[in-house]
Amino acid sequence: MELNGAVAVVTGGASGIGLALARRALAEGARVVLADVEEAALDRAVAELSTNGNQVWGVRTDVSDASSVEALAREVSERHGDVRVVFANAGVTASGAMWESTIDDWRWMLDVNVMGTVHCVRSFVPRMIDAGLPAHVCITGSLAGYLNQPGFGAYNASKHAVVAIAETLAADLREAGHAIGVTVVAPWFVSTRLAQSARNRPSALTDATVASPYMQALWGKLAAYREIAQTADEVAAQTVDAVKADRFSVFPFPPSIDAVRARFEAVLGGDVLGLYQP
Ligand SMILES: NC(=O)c1ccc[n+]([C@@H]2O[C@H](COP(=O)([O-])OP(=O)(O)OC[C@H]3O[C@@H](n4cnc5c(N)ncnc54)[C@H](O)[C@@H]3O)[C@@H](O)[C@H]2O)c1
Repeated sequence: MELNGAVAVVTGGASGIGLALARRALAEGARVVLADVEEAALDRAVAELSTNGNQVWGVRTDVSDASSVEALAREVSERHGDVRVVFANAGVTASGAMWESTIDDWRWMLDVNVMGTVHCVRSFVPRMIDAGLPAHVCITGSLAGYLNQPGFGAYNASKHAVVAIAETLAADLREAGHAIGVTVVAPWFVSTRLAQSARNRPSALTDATVASPYMQALWGKLAAYREIAQTADEVAAQTVDAVKADRFSVFPFPPSIDAVRARFEAVLGGDVLGLYQP
């Protein structure tokens, strides 16, 4: 996939991995539209990236809302031309034991992570097919889409769905003969503002799971992960390389490949992997 001169849309582009993806795409010569629900952060990101003659715009978008994503796709194609690359990256997280997570936590993560990806596929892929030009859909999944850490049931379920969407989209496009590539990225821990996802929580879904003693103890065990967190830029660099090379899956943190293998071996052996610590 040639990014030079291509119009690329990045959802969740105002922060973290999305912002780093936008920076990398601009460095490749793409014209970039940042789509994010957090308006002030979006304005700051556009201002930060609008240097060196970069062509970058912001469109406030809520990916959990089909009409908002459809309006984004329409506006970008009318103003800037055919979208060649979409980075469906926006996502949120919350934690809690399976028996403790609130319905509002489930709803919020499924709405943003799963339906947000579905809305991007439904609004951008038909336009890409109609344009008939090489194009690419890059979806930010997670290692949580391949293995199930305790304490993150709703997030794990949402990211397993995201990986299933990406794989099936790639298979559908291949079967139908369309020259549209698909990439799914599976980062592990990355230094971003994901832990502060609640800053964008909808006012209709305020019943957040309260951390129980079980979750507090689990968070203690997971604290060491901060030491091995990757930067958003490391993840974005590998991701943009995969888009250019039309590679389907990206596991940016090398030890995570053994973790995925251990998970499938456990399942095939009739067991559950449980807490995985590198
Ligand atoms: N940080 C990690 O450790 C990690 C690991 C694996 C996967 N991921 C995934 O990476 C993606 C990016 O997250 P991040 O870590 O950069 O976090 P982040 O919080 O820094 O960035 C996420 C962006 O998504 C935006 N967003 C949230 N809800 C939205 C909505 N409804 N519509 C549009 N935009 C919305 C936020 O405003 C924010 O700008 C997510 O899909 C996340 O699940 C992150």
